[in-house]
Amino acid sequence: MNGQPTGHCAIYPGSFDPFTKGHLDVVERAAAIFDRVVVAVVVNPQKRDPLFALGEREQMIRDAVAHLPNVTVDHFRGLLAEYVNAHDATVIVKGLRVVSDFESEMSTALMNRSLSKVDTVFLPSDPRWSFVSSTLVKEVFNLGGDIADFVPPAVLRVMSAKRSTPRPAKR
Ligand code: PNS
Repeated sequence: MNGQPTGHCAIYPGSFDPFTKGHLDVVERAAAIFDRVVVAVVVNPQKRDPLFALGEREQMIRDAVAHLPNVTVDHFRGLLAEYVNAHDATVIVKGLRVVSDFESEMSTALMNRSLSKVDTVFLPSDPRWSFVSSTLVKEVFNLGGDIADFVPPAVLRVMSAKRSTPRPAKR
């Protein structure tokens, strides 16, 4: 024994802008399967300017997963494969909501395995959350809709505090 933690360490990476009930469901199920789960927040999401700063996203997730003793929250920049190897992770976890998720996630999983030798395990989304994405939650929120059903209470509190007035429609 070399004093290092043993067992399966799973990395659950994402933008989490914001963390939804769908994300929480994946973390809870991964935490029941693997010895440790690290929710790894990407520093600069490639797709867009994040609504929430990195520190806000991390804190909201920490609050939302506080009931899960084997889950920690961290962040990474650059290649996920490098982060995974640096943390001696044994598996990457991804949630799949719809078939189109599988198409993009499959090539990403193969690239990550090629780079890191670590496999990706896909957890199918619970049907309750299969239509819930961070992008849609933000759109509903920005247009004044009620998002309470779609995000954990810790996220709802922060989002409610941030609520902005919708821009007037252009004519
Ligand atoms: O929540 P998202 O936006 O679907 O998360 C995407 C994320 C962060 C998992 C993905 O963009 C990622 O892994 N970024 C790190 C950069 C990287 O390793 N790119 C090569 C992937 S093959």
